[in-house]
Amino acid sequence: MLELVGKLYETHDLTDEELISLINSDDSEVSELLRQRADETRQKYYGKKVFLRGLIEISSFCKNNCFYCGIRRDNKNAQRYRLSREEILSCCENGYELGFRTFVMQGGEDAFYDDRFMCDIISEIKNRYPDCAVTLSLGERSAQSYKRMKEAGADRYLLRHETADTELYKKLHPNNMSFANRKKCLFSLKKLGYQVGAGFMVGAPFQTVENLVSDLRFLQDLQPQMIGIGPFIPHHETPFADEKQGSLELTLRLLGIIRLMFPKVLLPATTALGTISPTGREMGLKTGCNVIMPNLSPVKVRKKYDLYDNKICTGEEAAECKGCLQRRVQSAGYEIVSERGDCVC
Ligand code: 5AD
Ligand code: FES
Repeated sequence: MLELVGKLYETHDLTDEELISLINSDDSEVSELLRQRADETRQKYYGKKVFLRGLIEISSFCKNNCFYCGIRRDNKNAQRYRLSREEILSCCENGYELGFRTFVMQGGEDAFYDDRFMCDIISEIKNRYPDCAVTLSLGERSAQSYKRMKEAGADRYLLRHETADTELYKKLHPNNMSFANRKKCLFSLKKLGYQVGAGFMVGAPFQTVENLVSDLRFLQDLQPQMIGIGPFIPHHETPFADEKQGSLELTLRLLGIIRLMFPKVLLPATTALGTISPTGREMGLKTGCNVIMPNLSPVKVRKKYDLYDNKICTGEEAAECKGCLQRRVQSAGYEIVSERGDCVC
């Protein structure tokens, strides 16, 4: 198994069978070697730098009904909110002061944020902060809408593919959603010139190791600039309330494999990883991650953007996220930089 890590480090690929055995292995020596090789690879291209993305959660309304997600339409107990143009701009102002050079506007699929609203705010942010990247994470929209927002100045788009297996996709989503459409959206975003982020949940209900290999193959085909993965965490008001959460070990193993398969990719140590373990994000950074996405949303809405249970950084401590993160990143041996953090690919 140690040779497989060596082969992956050198050739950035393995056969399906080899990937399956590497993902399945629970040998701690293998994990440690994978971690070291992943860290070496990230340092080769990014040094000790950690890029920040200021996450602005603009809406907790969503027309979709994904079985895993806490803000799904059928969750009648979800607390819904929308941020106004002024509220979003004030998050950016705040974030810019704190050194953020990327703003991510993320929300449920909410028709309130039509192309007119989005294009106006995108061009306003780019006007005020020409040295910043604007990232969108607003789910599936038409190619025309993606095009308009790109022309208004958007630089990047995050849309996790969730799973590249058509059958598993159906088990995680209602019938009106499909992997085919997800894929279409991702390729059209790429074609329009967006820097694209895709990704999936680790340990989602019904997920097999073969499904994870399909995810890696899909990513090789898409070649996104960013890959966001995190453990599945049940939300108590969804159909998956009683399902098991994804494990720390498997998530770290996949992060290491992804760093070796995609040496230059941007790889966030996600909030979900920090939620299942108090030092999850630090361990992620040591296993190839080079991005953190702190919450810039107004404190009063943070508990309402409730995708999964026990999400961190949503309480009163949240105002001090920057200092807290600074300490965490330093303790892991890395340094936060105030840059846009474009992919070196
Ligand atoms: N556990 C972990 N991640 C989740 N997401 C949504 N619900 C959950 C959950 N229960 C992730 C999805 C989505 C991203 C914004 O959050 O992958 O793309
Ligand atoms: Fe947000 Fe620690 S990173 S409070």
